[in-house]
Amino acid sequence: MGGRKLEGTIPVSGAKNAALPLMCAALLTEAPLQLTNMPTTLGDIVTLSAVLGELGVRTAIHKDEHTVILQAKDKTSCHAPYDLVRKMRASILVLGPLLARHGQAEVSLPGGCAIGTRPVDLHIDGLRAMGALIELESGYIKATAPHGLKGTTIVFPKVSVGATENLMMAACLADGCTVLSKAAQEPEIVDLGECLIKMGAKIEGLGTDEIRIQGVEKLKGTTHDVIPDRIETGTWMIAAALTGGKLQLKNAKLDHVTALVAPLEEAGLIIKQTGTDIIVSREGRPLTGTDIMTKPYPGFPTDLQAQFMTMLTLCMGAGMVTETIFENRFMHVPELCRMGANITVHNGSAIIRGVNSLKGAEVMATDLRASVALVLAALVAEGETTINRIYHLDRGYENIVDKLRACGADIERVK
Ligand code: EPZ
Repeated sequence: MGGRKLEGTIPVSGAKNAALPLMCAALLTEAPLQLTNMPTTLGDIVTLSAVLGELGVRTAIHKDEHTVILQAKDKTSCHAPYDLVRKMRASILVLGPLLARHGQAEVSLPGGCAIGTRPVDLHIDGLRAMGALIELESGYIKATAPHGLKGTTIVFPKVSVGATENLMMAACLADGCTVLSKAAQEPEIVDLGECLIKMGAKIEGLGTDEIRIQGVEKLKGTTHDVIPDRIETGTWMIAAALTGGKLQLKNAKLDHVTALVAPLEEAGLIIKQTGTDIIVSREGRPLTGTDIMTKPYPGFPTDLQAQFMTMLTLCMGAGMVTETIFENRFMHVPELCRMGANITVHNGSAIIRGVNSLKGAEVMATDLRASVALVLAALVAEGETTINRIYHLDRGYENIVDKLRACGADIERVK
């Protein structure tokens, strides 16, 4: 049921999109890799540990301690099967480490998903440039590096988070120096790089668009604390803007969501970092519409586009949302319109004209971030909203019902 202000504290979980590549980094060494502050209840973490299990990686998930320990001691297989990879696109991130460590890999092409075709050509082109022999055969990427990978310079034609991560991991064990130019700069890439450095990798330029990796013979194990999830952080900041009230986000980093601060403050939210927490509040002041355009980091994150659009539906005036990263990331629009939003989509842009209220309805989740955009809408809509297919939600938000109920939301999971 909507209409309640959110007041209270929300602990932000470890970042899903840092946790997944970090787990794949375990393939680069025979020593144990211990990851802490992990979002251990997310389905994606369990699915990826199953993929890694197929590759001989022993994984211990200590749910309550939010810790995962992985060890790729013995190579049993280099085959990542379709039925697992299709459930977890990030499995493509085993390709680079397998090639670098074992000189061979057979990974199912991940296929597309709701938000786009999600090609992996940049991953493949980069590994070929490093000397890998790669064939695409019956839906699989069949790759070998009989003489090992060789360092080289790779200039990305477009910014890709996954390709940057795959090639950075592969380059750690390559022969010579690899330069990744026009690389992605997301905090999750910095987190992965810092963990690799603790494992003995030689990496410079993390957080910039040029990353240099000097290959080494082998890597050792380490313990690494995963960064807080900036997309979850941004989601709760938008929730506070929408419902009014005051939220204290525990263990959240404002410098990872700077692109969100300006538009949210413009819309009327008060934001401040106090120690390791972020306090956000909106008391009474009306929200005003503003425009956003998604861009690679440090631009406005595409993973917060749907959530921000939900907020715009109730802002005074109008706002424009332009999605430049994925080709089909407006699937939340028809569902929001069913709740009374006024949104017009034209090519990659949406015009949102503020309405006085949203009305509760039965709606359907289509992908992870669209799902949470519907939860945000339901928190402020008049009446009851039922959201179907919430398995999408559970892929990216730990304990979302408990976290929101603890702040006064009227929300429950129904079988
Ligand atoms: C990562 O996906 C994230 N996933 C996505 O989060 C996020 O939306 C995306 O980065 C952009 O920030 C994980 O980290 C597990 P890309 P990734 O390669 O690496 C095109 C979520 O909700 N492209 O940066 O797959 C691609 O089609 C998820 O948590 C190619 O053309 O994204 C897209 O248009 C959704 N060829 C653009 O680049 C390639 O080889 C950016 O994709 C690779 C990508």
